[in-house]
Amino acid sequence: MKLTSASCQIAYWDSGKLRIANFLTRRTFVANPVTLDLIRFFFTPNTIQKALVKFSAYTRESVAASILKLIEAQLLLEHGSVEWKRDKQVESSWGPWLPEGGFHFMTKDAPYVGSDWPMEEKMKALPATPAPPQFKRIAAAAAIRLPAPEIQADAFFETLHARRTHREFAKAPVSLESVSSLLQTTWGVQGYADTNVFGKLPYKTSPSGGARHPVEVYLVALRVKGLDRGIYHYQAKDNLLSKIPGKASARIASDYCAGQAYFGEAAALFIMTAVFPRTMWKYGRARAYRVVLLETGHLGQTFCLTATRLGLAPFTTAALKDSLIEQDLGIDGISESVVYVAGVGVPAGR
Ligand SMILES: Cc1cc2nc3c(=O)[nH]c(=O)nc-3n(C[C@H](O)[C@H](O)[C@H](O)COP(=O)(O)O)c2cc1C
Repeated sequence: MKLTSASCQIAYWDSGKLRIANFLTRRTFVANPVTLDLIRFFFTPNTIQKALVKFSAYTRESVAASILKLIEAQLLLEHGSVEWKRDKQVESSWGPWLPEGGFHFMTKDAPYVGSDWPMEEKMKALPATPAPPQFKRIAAAAAIRLPAPEIQADAFFETLHARRTHREFAKAPVSLESVSSLLQTTWGVQGYADTNVFGKLPYKTSPSGGARHPVEVYLVALRVKGLDRGIYHYQAKDNLLSKIPGKASARIASDYCAGQAYFGEAAALFIMTAVFPRTMWKYGRARAYRVVLLETGHLGQTFCLTATRLGLAPFTTAALKDSLIEQDLGIDGISESVVYVAGVGVPAGR
């Protein structure tokens, strides 16, 4: 059996100790700095026997123990294994955005404060220090009083002001027409721009860096009149829904939203994923990762405003069980990964 060092690793000093992390599996390991030599040795696939010969200046027991610890921490992988293939996939598809892009993987599947925790427990999760001031005031600068805003009797401003995050929904379904409006308005293609260098690029209602539009959307239909309960992929180019395998239920929807039971009561979820290579192909620097996240924010706001205008109750959440969602959507979580979820229902009391 040959072992190879994981490509998805970063090392840093943590309170005087060298910590090595596999940012894909999120396993971390406190290592003696000489371990780095062992890791370097295994960047060429090698056997444990060869390592024992190479590091014969150390006792066999200590070298073997270090190798075992590295295997346990998934910093050494069996060459050709499933884990090795996933590691290689990150290296090949995220290459231009590494190591900074490790942030994306390190922050997946975070533990969340449970919505059912007693308030006392929730408070314990907060720092003991007071919250920072909510507003900034530059004391030395002269302040100019702005004219009082005119109350605009205009649908756009009314919609903006009416948008709120909803966490309670009526049992009634939403119509397929509403779901269609939400999909087309937020994620649909509105037209194309002809460019010399990049060919035909889609226009949507939200801006997208380089018009790369890396965001895909999947509909989890829980109560949509005229549509079977289930999970669908929205084909933005042709305005179609394709049913994909996978069940939809209140329980599953709440699980996707990291156990927030109230979001399971919504009528539909809209799961936004990012196909990173679309943006990475043009923008080879890791800063473009920010661009992808910013874009989902634009889409989230457009979704909320459209839902509000349609008389529906929208919400968005970034508290997600990433790996669970990715598994159910049949995406690899590497070249395409979940980023943000929006949802909608009929407002409670209606
Ligand atoms: C990126 C993002 C993530 C959010 N995640 C959650 C969440 O996980 N759960 C939740 O109940 N609200 C979530 N919210 C909603 C905020 O709590 C809400 O916007 C805030 O309380 C202000 O209320 P408003 O949206 O009605 O103005 C999120 C909002 C944003 C922008």
